Amino acid sequence: MEEPLSLRVLIPREEIAARVAAMGRQISADYAGKELLLVVVLRGAAVFAADLCRHLTTQTVLDFISVSSYGSATSTSGVVRFLKDLEESVEGRHVLIVEDIVDTGLTLNYLLENLRTRKPASLVSCTLLDKPSRRRVDIQPDYLGFTIDDLFVVGYGLDFDQYYRNLPDICVQR
Ligand code: PRP
Repeated sequence: MEEPLSLRVLIPREEIAARVAAMGRQISADYAGKELLLVVVLRGAAVFAADLCRHLTTQTVLDFISVSSYGSATSTSGVVRFLKDLEESVEGRHVLIVEDIVDTGLTLNYLLENLRTRKPASLVSCTLLDKPSRRRVDIQPDYLGFTIDDLFVVGYGLDFDQYYRNLPDICVQR
């Protein structure tokens, strides 16, 4: 067990809940009458996706994908390795990639490029948090919860060394 970090709340749970509900309403309106395939990027987005999907009123299928970066090589190349691929076929489906955070943008960019080759009917992205100041590729999420400064955040799915994902608020180190 590691020494716990000293944390303070950056985005409280009530604010997260209100924003996630609003995103859910927006996505539901945009996809009214269509079936959505949510592609949840493990592990960080699991908590956000669990809340978001319960605000969707359109027919929704959940699937999960897990990618890993190749250490420092990734920060320059954006090459990632699939740890777990989707079980659903993407072809002809309306696909929404669900991320917890977009930082350099390399992961989302890679996923968009990869899934696009599988011929979806449409392909967009949704992230709870965005750190545009860290971007290395010109990419904007289609649905966005909060824009944040370049802070190291944990909680609500986001980890430090795999810990703190279970915190209900988004926190930063004091
Ligand atoms: C985080 C996050 C995104 C990615 C964003 O995942 O969930 O997938 O990093 O960073 P980027 O924009 O610089 O590519 P991480 O690799 O920490 O895995 P996790 O979701 O399991 O925590």
